[in-house]
Amino acid sequence: MTPPQTAELASTSTDWPATDMMVDSATTASASISAVDRAVDIAGDADRAVLARELSIVVPTFNESANVAELTRRLGEALRGIAWELVYVDDDSPDHTAEAVRQLAQNDARVRVIQRIGRRGLSSACVEGVLATSAPFVAVMDADLQHDERLLPAMLQTLRRGGLDIAIGSRYVDGGQIGEWDEQRATISRLATRVSHAVVPAALKDPMSGFFMIRREAFMDRVHSLSALGFKILVDLFASGTQPLRFIELPYAFRARHAGQSKLDSHVAWDYGMLLIDKLIGRWIPARFVSFGLIGSAGVIVHMAVLAALFKPGLVSFQLGQALAAAVAMVFNFFVNNLLTYRDQRLRGARLLRGLASFMLVCSVGAVANVGVAQFLFSHEQGWVPAALIGIVVAAVWNFATSSFYTWGRRSG
Ligand code: GDD
Ligand code: MN
Repeated sequence: MTPPQTAELASTSTDWPATDMMVDSATTASASISAVDRAVDIAGDADRAVLARELSIVVPTFNESANVAELTRRLGEALRGIAWELVYVDDDSPDHTAEAVRQLAQNDARVRVIQRIGRRGLSSACVEGVLATSAPFVAVMDADLQHDERLLPAMLQTLRRGGLDIAIGSRYVDGGQIGEWDEQRATISRLATRVSHAVVPAALKDPMSGFFMIRREAFMDRVHSLSALGFKILVDLFASGTQPLRFIELPYAFRARHAGQSKLDSHVAWDYGMLLIDKLIGRWIPARFVSFGLIGSAGVIVHMAVLAALFKPGLVSFQLGQALAAAVAMVFNFFVNNLLTYRDQRLRGARLLRGLASFMLVCSVGAVANVGVAQFLFSHEQGWVPAALIGIVVAAVWNFATSSFYTWGRRSG
Protein backbone atom coordinates (compact mmCIF):
# COMPACT_ATOMS: atom_id res chain seq x y z
CA MET A 1 0.00 0.00 0.00
CA THR A 2 1.12 3.55 -0.68
CA PRO A 3 0.86 5.26 2.76
CA PRO A 4 3.28 3.03 4.71
CA GLN A 5 5.79 3.21 1.87
CA THR A 6 5.64 6.98 1.89
CA ALA A 7 6.00 7.11 5.66
CA GLU A 8 8.93 4.79 5.48
CA LEU A 9 10.64 6.94 2.86
CA ALA A 10 9.97 10.07 4.87
CA SER A 11 11.30 8.62 8.09
CA THR A 12 14.53 7.41 6.52
CA SER A 13 15.19 10.44 4.38
CA THR A 14 14.73 13.22 7.01
CA ASP A 15 15.26 13.99 10.65
CA TRP A 16 12.06 16.07 10.94
CA PRO A 17 10.23 16.07 14.27
CA ALA A 18 7.84 13.21 14.65
CA THR A 19 4.67 15.33 14.52
CA ASP A 20 5.77 17.12 11.36
CA MET A 21 6.63 13.85 9.84
CA MET A 22 3.18 12.51 10.61
CA VAL A 23 1.49 15.50 8.97
CA ASP A 24 3.89 15.51 6.10
CA SER A 25 3.62 11.83 5.34
CA ALA A 26 -0.16 12.03 5.53
CA THR A 27 -0.19 14.84 2.94
CA THR A 28 2.32 13.08 0.76
CA ALA A 29 0.30 9.90 1.00
CA SER A 30 -2.95 11.57 0.01
CA ALA A 31 -1.18 13.50 -2.73
CA SER A 32 0.32 10.34 -4.14
CA ILE A 33 -3.00 8.47 -3.91
CA SER A 34 -4.75 11.10 -5.95
CA ALA A 35 -1.84 11.09 -8.40
CA VAL A 36 -2.24 7.35 -8.74
CA ASP A 37 -5.98 7.76 -9.16
CA ARG A 38 -5.40 10.33 -11.84
CA ALA A 39 -2.88 8.15 -13.59
CA VAL A 40 -5.32 5.23 -13.51
CA ASP A 41 -8.05 7.50 -14.85
CA ILE A 42 -5.88 8.71 -17.69
CA ALA A 43 -4.75 5.19 -18.52
CA GLY A 44 -8.40 4.09 -18.34
CA ASP A 45 -9.44 6.81 -20.75
CA ALA A 46 -6.61 5.86 -23.06
CA ASP A 47 -7.69 2.22 -22.92
CA ARG A 48 -11.26 3.11 -23.56
CA ALA A 49 -10.24 5.36 -26.43
CA VAL A 50 -8.32 2.48 -27.94
CA LEU A 51 -11.24 0.14 -27.38
CA ALA A 52 -13.74 2.49 -29.02
CA ARG A 53 -13.13 1.30 -32.58
CA GLU A 54 -14.49 3.19 -35.51
CA LEU A 55 -14.09 0.30 -37.89
CA SER A 56 -14.60 -3.44 -37.42
CA ILE A 57 -13.25 -5.77 -40.10
CA VAL A 58 -14.77 -9.22 -40.40
CA VAL A 59 -12.91 -11.90 -42.32
CA PRO A 60 -14.46 -15.36 -42.86
CA THR A 61 -11.85 -18.10 -43.08
CA PHE A 62 -11.63 -21.72 -44.02
CA ASN A 63 -8.10 -23.10 -44.37
CA GLU A 64 -6.38 -19.73 -44.61
CA SER A 65 -3.58 -20.24 -42.07
CA ALA A 66 -0.96 -19.17 -44.63
CA ASN A 67 -2.76 -15.86 -45.30
CA VAL A 68 -3.88 -14.46 -41.95
CA ALA A 69 -0.51 -13.07 -40.83
CA GLU A 70 0.06 -11.26 -44.12
CA LEU A 71 -3.48 -9.86 -44.21
CA THR A 72 -3.21 -8.66 -40.61
CA ARG A 73 0.10 -6.96 -41.38
CA ARG A 74 -1.26 -5.28 -44.50
CA LEU A 75 -4.37 -4.09 -42.68
CA GLY A 76 -2.18 -2.56 -40.00
CA GLU A 77 -0.36 -0.61 -42.69
CA ALA A 78 -3.41 0.41 -44.68
CA LEU A 79 -5.37 1.54 -41.62
CA ARG A 80 -2.83 3.75 -39.86
CA GLY A 81 -4.60 6.53 -37.99
CA ILE A 82 -7.91 4.63 -37.91
CA ALA A 83 -9.15 2.89 -34.76
CA TRP A 84 -9.95 -0.61 -36.00
CA GLU A 85 -10.53 -4.15 -34.80
CA LEU A 86 -10.25 -7.34 -36.80
CA VAL A 87 -12.30 -10.49 -36.29
CA TYR A 88 -11.63 -13.70 -38.14
CA VAL A 89 -14.55 -16.13 -38.20
CA ASP A 90 -13.14 -19.58 -38.75
CA ASP A 91 -15.13 -22.76 -39.26
CA ASP A 92 -12.76 -25.03 -37.37
CA SER A 93 -10.34 -25.25 -40.31
CA PRO A 94 -8.27 -28.43 -40.38
CA ASP A 95 -5.18 -26.31 -41.15
CA HIS A 96 -5.57 -24.61 -37.72
CA THR A 97 -6.31 -21.13 -39.03
CA ALA A 98 -7.94 -20.28 -35.68
CA GLU A 99 -4.74 -21.15 -33.84
CA ALA A 100 -2.72 -19.00 -36.24
CA VAL A 101 -5.03 -16.07 -35.50
CA ARG A 102 -4.73 -16.63 -31.76
CA GLN A 103 -0.98 -16.31 -32.08
CA LEU A 104 -1.38 -13.01 -33.91
CA ALA A 105 -3.82 -11.88 -31.25
CA GLN A 106 -1.15 -12.44 -28.61
CA ASN A 107 0.78 -9.59 -30.20
CA ASP A 108 -2.11 -7.35 -31.15
CA ALA A 109 -5.19 -6.85 -28.99
CA ARG A 110 -7.14 -5.54 -31.98
CA VAL A 111 -7.18 -9.02 -33.49
CA ARG A 112 -9.34 -11.97 -32.44
CA VAL A 113 -11.01 -15.11 -33.72
CA ILE A 114 -14.42 -16.72 -33.49
CA GLN A 115 -14.04 -20.46 -34.00
CA ARG A 116 -17.27 -22.19 -35.01
CA ILE A 117 -17.49 -25.94 -34.56
CA GLY A 118 -19.73 -28.22 -36.65
CA ARG A 119 -20.73 -25.29 -38.89
CA ARG A 120 -19.89 -24.13 -42.40
CA GLY A 121 -20.82 -21.13 -44.50
CA LEU A 122 -19.27 -17.90 -45.65
CA SER A 123 -22.39 -15.74 -45.23
CA SER A 124 -23.36 -16.99 -41.80
CA ALA A 125 -19.73 -16.55 -40.67
CA CYS A 126 -19.83 -12.91 -41.80
CA VAL A 127 -23.12 -12.30 -40.01
CA GLU A 128 -21.83 -13.77 -36.77
CA GLY A 129 -18.60 -11.80 -37.07
CA VAL A 130 -20.46 -8.53 -37.54
CA LEU A 131 -22.69 -9.32 -34.56
CA ALA A 132 -19.63 -9.93 -32.38
CA THR A 133 -18.26 -6.43 -33.03
CA SER A 134 -19.44 -2.96 -32.14
CA ALA A 135 -17.84 -0.26 -34.32
CA PRO A 136 -20.20 2.06 -36.22
CA PHE A 137 -18.70 0.90 -39.52
CA VAL A 138 -18.07 -2.73 -40.48
CA ALA A 139 -16.09 -4.09 -43.40
CA VAL A 140 -16.25 -7.63 -44.75
CA MET A 141 -13.41 -9.06 -46.83
CA ASP A 142 -11.72 -12.32 -47.80
CA ALA A 143 -8.60 -13.65 -46.13
CA ASP A 144 -6.75 -14.57 -49.31
CA LEU A 145 -5.67 -10.99 -50.21
CA GLN A 146 -7.80 -10.92 -53.36
CA HIS A 147 -9.54 -7.85 -51.94
CA ASP A 148 -7.37 -4.74 -51.91
CA GLU A 149 -7.15 -3.56 -48.29
CA ARG A 150 -5.90 -0.16 -49.48
CA LEU A 151 -9.46 0.63 -50.54
CA LEU A 152 -10.71 0.54 -46.93
CA PRO A 153 -9.76 4.13 -45.95
CA ALA A 154 -11.60 5.47 -49.01
CA MET A 155 -14.65 3.35 -48.15
CA LEU A 156 -14.59 4.69 -44.61
CA GLN A 157 -14.18 8.25 -45.80
CA THR A 158 -17.23 7.94 -48.07
CA LEU A 159 -19.40 6.51 -45.32
CA ARG A 160 -18.24 9.05 -42.74
CA ARG A 161 -19.59 11.83 -44.94
CA GLY A 162 -23.10 10.42 -44.38
CA GLY A 163 -25.94 9.86 -46.81
CA LEU A 164 -24.83 6.33 -47.75
CA ASP A 165 -25.29 2.93 -46.12
CA ILE A 166 -22.73 0.82 -47.89
CA ALA A 167 -19.53 1.20 -49.94
CA ILE A 168 -18.74 -1.76 -52.18
CA GLY A 169 -15.42 -2.80 -53.63
CA SER A 170 -16.36 -3.35 -57.25
CA ARG A 171 -14.68 -5.05 -60.19
CA TYR A 172 -17.25 -3.87 -62.70
CA VAL A 173 -17.18 -0.08 -62.41
CA ASP A 174 -14.69 2.10 -64.26
CA GLY A 175 -11.21 1.38 -62.98
CA GLY A 176 -12.15 -2.02 -61.55
CA GLN A 177 -10.63 -5.29 -62.78
CA ILE A 178 -11.45 -8.95 -62.42
CA GLY A 179 -7.81 -9.98 -62.46
CA GLU A 180 -6.52 -13.32 -63.69
CA TRP A 181 -9.76 -15.17 -64.10
CA ASP A 182 -10.17 -17.75 -66.80
CA GLU A 183 -12.96 -17.22 -69.31
CA GLN A 184 -15.18 -19.83 -67.68
CA ARG A 185 -15.03 -18.27 -64.21
CA ALA A 186 -15.67 -14.80 -65.68
CA THR A 187 -18.72 -16.10 -67.58
CA ILE A 188 -20.14 -17.80 -64.48
CA SER A 189 -19.68 -14.62 -62.47
CA ARG A 190 -21.41 -12.53 -65.16
CA LEU A 191 -24.28 -15.03 -65.33
CA ALA A 192 -24.69 -15.08 -61.55
CA THR A 193 -24.71 -11.28 -61.59
CA ARG A 194 -27.43 -11.16 -64.22
CA VAL A 195 -29.61 -13.67 -62.33
CA SER A 196 -29.15 -11.70 -59.09
CA HIS A 197 -31.04 -8.79 -60.58
CA ALA A 198 -34.23 -10.66 -59.78
CA VAL A 199 -33.64 -9.62 -56.17
CA VAL A 200 -31.09 -6.76 -56.16
CA PRO A 201 -31.16 -3.36 -57.92
CA ALA A 202 -29.98 -3.48 -61.52
CA ALA A 203 -27.79 -0.44 -60.92
CA LEU A 204 -25.54 -2.53 -58.67
CA LYS A 205 -22.71 -3.64 -60.95
CA ASP A 206 -20.94 -6.14 -58.70
CA PRO A 207 -23.46 -7.85 -56.41
CA MET A 208 -21.15 -10.90 -56.27
CA SER A 209 -18.53 -8.86 -54.44
CA GLY A 210 -17.58 -10.12 -51.02
CA PHE A 211 -15.76 -6.86 -50.22
CA PHE A 212 -17.71 -3.99 -48.71
CA MET A 213 -18.14 -1.65 -45.76
CA ILE A 214 -21.55 -1.01 -44.21
CA ARG A 215 -22.94 1.28 -41.53
CA ARG A 216 -23.77 -0.84 -38.51
CA GLU A 217 -27.28 0.58 -38.26
CA ALA A 218 -28.04 -0.38 -41.85
CA PHE A 219 -26.80 -3.90 -41.12
CA MET A 220 -28.80 -4.20 -37.91
CA ASP A 221 -31.94 -2.99 -39.69
CA ARG A 222 -31.93 -6.07 -41.90
CA VAL A 223 -30.04 -8.69 -39.94
CA HIS A 224 -33.22 -10.48 -38.90
CA SER A 225 -34.36 -10.96 -42.46
CA LEU A 226 -31.03 -12.23 -43.82
CA SER A 227 -31.04 -15.77 -45.19
CA ALA A 228 -27.32 -16.22 -44.38
CA LEU A 229 -27.18 -19.09 -46.89
CA GLY A 230 -24.14 -19.80 -49.00
CA PHE A 231 -21.49 -17.39 -50.32
CA LYS A 232 -23.27 -14.23 -51.40
CA ILE A 233 -23.80 -12.04 -48.38
CA LEU A 234 -24.02 -8.84 -50.42
CA VAL A 235 -26.96 -10.14 -52.49
CA ASP A 236 -28.58 -11.20 -49.23
CA LEU A 237 -28.12 -7.73 -47.71
CA PHE A 238 -29.55 -5.95 -50.73
CA ALA A 239 -32.53 -8.29 -50.95
CA SER A 240 -33.41 -8.04 -47.25
CA GLY A 241 -35.05 -5.29 -45.23
CA THR A 242 -37.66 -2.73 -46.09
CA GLN A 243 -35.48 0.29 -46.93
CA PRO A 244 -33.29 0.08 -50.03
CA LEU A 245 -29.56 0.32 -49.27
CA ARG A 246 -27.98 3.59 -50.39
CA PHE A 247 -24.77 2.42 -52.01
CA ILE A 248 -21.66 3.43 -53.87
CA GLU A 249 -19.29 1.16 -55.79
CA LEU A 250 -15.59 1.94 -55.60
CA PRO A 251 -13.32 0.33 -58.19
CA TYR A 252 -10.49 -2.00 -57.29
CA ALA A 253 -8.49 -4.69 -59.03
CA PHE A 254 -9.34 -8.21 -57.85
CA ARG A 255 -5.96 -9.79 -57.12
CA ALA A 256 -4.75 -13.35 -57.38
CA ARG A 257 -5.15 -15.53 -54.28
CA HIS A 258 -2.09 -15.23 -52.03
CA ALA A 259 -1.80 -18.78 -50.63
CA GLY A 260 -4.10 -21.79 -50.29
CA GLN A 261 -7.06 -22.77 -52.43
CA SER A 262 -10.45 -21.35 -53.34
CA LYS A 263 -13.44 -22.92 -51.58
CA LEU A 264 -15.68 -22.22 -54.52
CA ASP A 265 -17.07 -25.55 -55.75
CA SER A 266 -20.09 -26.76 -57.65
CA HIS A 267 -22.20 -26.79 -54.48
CA VAL A 268 -21.84 -23.04 -54.29
CA ALA A 269 -24.17 -22.82 -57.31
CA TRP A 270 -26.81 -24.82 -55.44
CA ASP A 271 -26.40 -22.55 -52.40
CA TYR A 272 -26.77 -19.52 -54.62
CA GLY A 273 -29.99 -20.90 -56.13
CA MET A 274 -31.28 -21.54 -52.62
CA LEU A 275 -30.43 -18.00 -51.57
CA LEU A 276 -32.35 -16.55 -54.53
CA ILE A 277 -35.33 -18.84 -53.86
CA ASP A 278 -35.27 -17.88 -50.20
CA LYS A 279 -35.28 -14.20 -51.10
CA LEU A 280 -38.11 -14.64 -53.59
CA ILE A 281 -40.47 -17.03 -51.79
CA GLY A 282 -38.83 -17.74 -48.43
CA ARG A 283 -41.50 -15.72 -46.67
CA TRP A 284 -43.98 -18.47 -47.55
CA ILE A 285 -41.87 -21.57 -48.13
CA PRO A 286 -38.41 -22.06 -46.59
CA ALA A 287 -35.65 -22.53 -49.18
CA ARG A 288 -34.52 -25.65 -47.37
CA PHE A 289 -37.93 -27.15 -47.92
CA VAL A 290 -37.66 -26.41 -51.63
CA SER A 291 -34.26 -28.10 -51.67
CA PHE A 292 -35.66 -31.04 -49.70
CA GLY A 293 -38.63 -31.31 -52.09
CA LEU A 294 -36.46 -31.22 -55.23
CA ILE A 295 -34.22 -33.95 -53.85
CA GLY A 296 -37.32 -35.90 -52.80
CA SER A 297 -38.56 -35.76 -56.40
CA ALA A 298 -35.24 -37.15 -57.57
CA GLY A 299 -35.74 -39.82 -54.90
CA VAL A 300 -39.00 -40.87 -56.58
CA ILE A 301 -37.08 -41.53 -59.79
CA VAL A 302 -34.52 -43.58 -57.87
CA HIS A 303 -37.37 -45.51 -56.26
CA MET A 304 -39.00 -46.33 -59.60
CA ALA A 305 -35.68 -47.35 -61.15
CA VAL A 306 -34.90 -49.76 -58.30
CA LEU A 307 -38.41 -51.19 -58.36
CA ALA A 308 -38.25 -51.69 -62.11
CA ALA A 309 -34.85 -53.36 -61.88
CA LEU A 310 -35.96 -55.81 -59.19
CA PHE A 311 -39.61 -56.49 -59.91
CA LYS A 312 -39.80 -56.48 -63.70
CA PRO A 313 -37.36 -59.31 -64.29
CA GLY A 314 -39.20 -61.21 -61.52
CA LEU A 315 -36.33 -61.11 -59.01
CA VAL A 316 -38.62 -60.21 -56.12
CA SER A 317 -42.32 -59.86 -55.33
CA PHE A 318 -43.93 -56.46 -55.83
CA GLN A 319 -44.20 -55.95 -52.09
CA LEU A 320 -40.56 -56.74 -51.39
CA GLY A 321 -39.48 -54.70 -54.45
CA GLN A 322 -41.48 -51.73 -53.23
CA ALA A 323 -39.99 -51.96 -49.73
CA LEU A 324 -36.42 -52.27 -51.05
CA ALA A 325 -36.93 -49.40 -53.48
CA ALA A 326 -38.27 -47.22 -50.66
CA ALA A 327 -35.21 -48.03 -48.54
CA VAL A 328 -32.80 -47.21 -51.37
CA ALA A 329 -34.65 -43.96 -52.08
CA MET A 330 -34.43 -42.98 -48.39
CA VAL A 331 -30.68 -43.63 -48.30
CA PHE A 332 -30.30 -41.60 -51.50
CA ASN A 333 -32.38 -38.74 -50.09
CA PHE A 334 -30.45 -38.74 -46.85
CA PHE A 335 -27.03 -38.45 -48.48
CA VAL A 336 -28.02 -35.84 -51.04
CA ASN A 337 -29.80 -33.71 -48.42
CA ASN A 338 -26.77 -34.00 -46.19
CA LEU A 339 -24.65 -32.78 -49.08
CA LEU A 340 -26.87 -29.95 -50.32
CA THR A 341 -29.79 -29.00 -48.06
CA TYR A 342 -27.73 -29.19 -44.89
CA ARG A 343 -24.34 -28.41 -46.35
CA ASP A 344 -23.72 -25.84 -43.64
CA GLN A 345 -24.06 -28.47 -40.92
CA ARG A 346 -23.17 -31.64 -42.75
CA LEU A 347 -23.08 -34.79 -40.62
CA ARG A 348 -19.87 -36.77 -40.68
CA GLY A 349 -18.39 -39.89 -39.08
CA ALA A 350 -20.49 -41.51 -36.36
CA ARG A 351 -23.07 -38.74 -36.56
CA LEU A 352 -23.60 -39.67 -40.20
CA LEU A 353 -24.78 -43.20 -39.34
CA ARG A 354 -26.93 -41.99 -36.49
CA GLY A 355 -28.40 -39.40 -38.85
CA LEU A 356 -29.15 -42.03 -41.49
CA ALA A 357 -30.94 -44.21 -38.94
CA SER A 358 -33.06 -41.35 -37.63
CA PHE A 359 -33.82 -40.19 -41.18
CA MET A 360 -35.06 -43.64 -42.20
CA LEU A 361 -37.20 -43.85 -39.08
CA VAL A 362 -38.72 -40.43 -39.72
CA CYS A 363 -39.40 -41.25 -43.38
CA SER A 364 -40.98 -44.59 -42.50
CA VAL A 365 -43.47 -42.78 -40.28
CA GLY A 366 -43.94 -40.33 -43.17
CA ALA A 367 -44.69 -43.20 -45.55
CA VAL A 368 -47.32 -44.63 -43.18
CA ALA A 369 -48.89 -41.15 -42.86
CA ASN A 370 -48.79 -40.79 -46.64
CA VAL A 371 -50.72 -44.01 -47.22
CA GLY A 372 -53.11 -43.31 -44.33
CA VAL A 373 -54.03 -39.79 -45.47
CA ALA A 374 -54.35 -40.80 -49.12
CA GLN A 375 -56.51 -43.80 -48.21
CA PHE A 376 -58.72 -41.65 -45.99
CA LEU A 377 -59.26 -39.04 -48.72
CA PHE A 378 -59.82 -41.69 -51.37
CA SER A 379 -62.45 -43.42 -49.28
CA HIS A 380 -64.16 -40.04 -48.82
CA GLU A 381 -64.94 -39.63 -52.49
CA GLN A 382 -61.78 -37.75 -53.46
CA GLY A 383 -60.23 -38.61 -56.82
CA TRP A 384 -57.19 -40.89 -56.67
CA VAL A 385 -54.83 -38.21 -58.02
CA PRO A 386 -55.58 -35.47 -55.44
CA ALA A 387 -55.72 -38.12 -52.70
CA ALA A 388 -52.26 -39.41 -53.64
CA LEU A 389 -50.78 -35.91 -54.05
CA ILE A 390 -52.06 -34.69 -50.69
CA GLY A 391 -50.67 -37.86 -49.11
CA ILE A 392 -47.27 -37.05 -50.65
CA VAL A 393 -47.33 -33.42 -49.49
CA VAL A 394 -48.28 -34.41 -45.94
CA ALA A 395 -45.44 -36.93 -45.83
CA ALA A 396 -42.96 -34.41 -47.31
CA VAL A 397 -43.84 -31.76 -44.74
CA TRP A 398 -43.60 -34.32 -41.95
CA ASN A 399 -40.28 -35.69 -43.22
CA PHE A 400 -38.82 -32.23 -43.60
CA ALA A 401 -39.97 -30.84 -40.27
CA THR A 402 -39.05 -33.90 -38.25
CA SER A 403 -35.73 -34.68 -39.92
CA SER A 404 -34.61 -31.05 -39.75
CA PHE A 405 -35.05 -31.36 -36.00
CA TYR A 406 -33.98 -34.93 -35.23
CA THR A 407 -31.54 -35.69 -38.02
CA TRP A 408 -29.84 -32.35 -38.60
CA GLY A 409 -30.62 -30.83 -35.23
CA ARG A 410 -32.31 -27.65 -36.37
CA ARG A 411 -35.28 -26.05 -34.78
CA SER A 412 -36.57 -24.27 -37.87
CA GLY A 413 -36.16 -24.15 -41.67
N1 GDD B 1 -15.93 -19.22 -42.13
C1 GDD B 1 -15.96 -19.66 -43.40
N2 GDD B 1 -16.73 -20.74 -43.71
N3 GDD B 1 -15.24 -19.03 -44.34
C2 GDD B 1 -15.29 -19.50 -45.60
C3 GDD B 1 -16.06 -20.62 -45.98
C4 GDD B 1 -16.81 -21.27 -44.96
O1 GDD B 1 -17.52 -22.25 -45.18
N4 GDD B 1 -15.89 -20.83 -47.31
C5 GDD B 1 -15.03 -19.87 -47.73
N5 GDD B 1 -14.66 -19.08 -46.71
C6 GDD B 1 -13.76 -17.92 -46.74
C7 GDD B 1 -12.42 -18.20 -47.38
O2 GDD B 1 -11.49 -18.70 -46.47
C8 GDD B 1 -12.06 -16.82 -47.89
O3 GDD B 1 -11.49 -16.02 -46.90
C9 GDD B 1 -13.40 -16.23 -48.27
O4 GDD B 1 -14.37 -16.94 -47.52
C10 GDD B 1 -13.71 -16.36 -49.77
O5 GDD B 1 -13.53 -17.70 -50.16
P1 GDD B 1 -12.69 -18.10 -51.47
O6 GDD B 1 -12.57 -19.57 -51.47
O7 GDD B 1 -11.47 -17.28 -51.57
O8 GDD B 1 -13.76 -17.72 -52.54
P2 GDD B 1 -13.60 -17.10 -53.99
O9 GDD B 1 -12.32 -16.40 -54.20
O10 GDD B 1 -13.95 -18.12 -54.96
O11 GDD B 1 -14.81 -16.05 -53.95
C11 GDD B 1 -14.59 -14.74 -53.78
O12 GDD B 1 -15.03 -14.08 -54.92
C12 GDD B 1 -16.37 -13.86 -55.02
C13 GDD B 1 -16.57 -12.97 -56.19
O13 GDD B 1 -16.70 -13.70 -57.30
C14 GDD B 1 -15.23 -14.22 -52.51
O14 GDD B 1 -14.76 -12.92 -52.31
C15 GDD B 1 -16.66 -14.05 -52.57
O15 GDD B 1 -17.09 -13.41 -51.37
C16 GDD B 1 -16.92 -13.23 -53.75
O16 GDD B 1 -18.28 -13.07 -53.84
MN1 MN C 1 -10.78 -15.98 -52.95
